[in-house]
Amino acid sequence: MELVFDRVTKQYKNKIAVDRVSFTLKKGVYGLLGANGAGKTTLMRMMCGVLKPDSGEIFYDGKRAGEEAFRNVLGYLPQEFGYYPEFSAMDFLMYLAALKGIPKRQAREKVRELLNLTDLTPVARKKVKTFSGGMKQRLGIAQSLLNDPEVLVLDEPTAGLDPKERVKFRNLISELGNDRIVLLSTHIVSDVEHIADVILVMKDGAVIHQGNLEEIIQVIQGKVWECTLESQEAENLTGKYPVLNMRREKEGILLRLVCGKKPAESARLAEATLEDLYLYYFSEKGQEGGTL
Ligand SMILES: Nc1ncnc2c1ncn2[C@@H]1O[C@H](COP(=O)(O)OP(=O)(O)OP(=O)(O)O)[C@@H](O)[C@H]1O
Ligand SMILES: [Mg+2]
Repeated sequence: MELVFDRVTKQYKNKIAVDRVSFTLKKGVYGLLGANGAGKTTLMRMMCGVLKPDSGEIFYDGKRAGEEAFRNVLGYLPQEFGYYPEFSAMDFLMYLAALKGIPKRQAREKVRELLNLTDLTPVARKKVKTFSGGMKQRLGIAQSLLNDPEVLVLDEPTAGLDPKERVKFRNLISELGNDRIVLLSTHIVSDVEHIADVILVMKDGAVIHQGNLEEIIQVIQGKVWECTLESQEAENLTGKYPVLNMRREKEGILLRLVCGKKPAESARLAEATLEDLYLYYFSEKGQEGGTL
């Protein structure tokens, strides 16, 4: 089980959306983390054969992306998934199963199993238009599993989920990752923190880091500081270094920032988090890795 991206590039007019991306995925859950416009959807659409790369190749166990043999082992939840509002959840899944060429008896069994897996059995006969955002997301995941995919691609599957639904969803994904490749994109740090075995950080079309949580955080570990300062001093530092957080307190302004050396006499080192790393890369200032 091996999915390979080899120098994959995609350009829209004058915008390079995905820039020579290479990586290899094996069994497990991968979190693709990146800000709006980083290129996550473009990368996933190429993987699913919806878009063709301008150059580079995507292979899964000898099958090329876009080929039928690849499609047959692939499940995909697009970022903007079209539901049929007048269909019930059950009818919707049966309909998609028919489109995928699954024989009716087999489809019935599979649909029942997936409704169960996604906790939609109690509402199986209800129309999709009456569903909450989270229920629709779970239905989207159910449809992506109809063909028992070996490779599952989920584009922002947690968008619109409330905290309780998030937890349910994470458990479901972890389970699914036991015997397949799951790649999910998000810009919600806590999602990848909790469910991804490996995190891919994407910025401006490139995958700039890949590793488990500990490895990824290493980039700024030992460089995250907290200090409480009076406003003038705080302002000086804010102009100089990437600020992760700023809070007014009784004693002054509590700053959390990234700096290669101790930024102030009273500064103390803080444990770096994935959120720090994310803010560092994707804050408005657009800090580059080179400033460390
Ligand atoms: N069809 C298109 N035509 C022109 N430019 C596009 C097209 N689709 C995407 N882009 C551009 O390519 C870049 C990558 O877009 P993409 O949708 O892949 O990012 P994303 O990481 O999925 O963002 P989001 O988190 O907002 O979903 C963006 O700059 C976007 O504006
Ligand atoms: Mg997207």
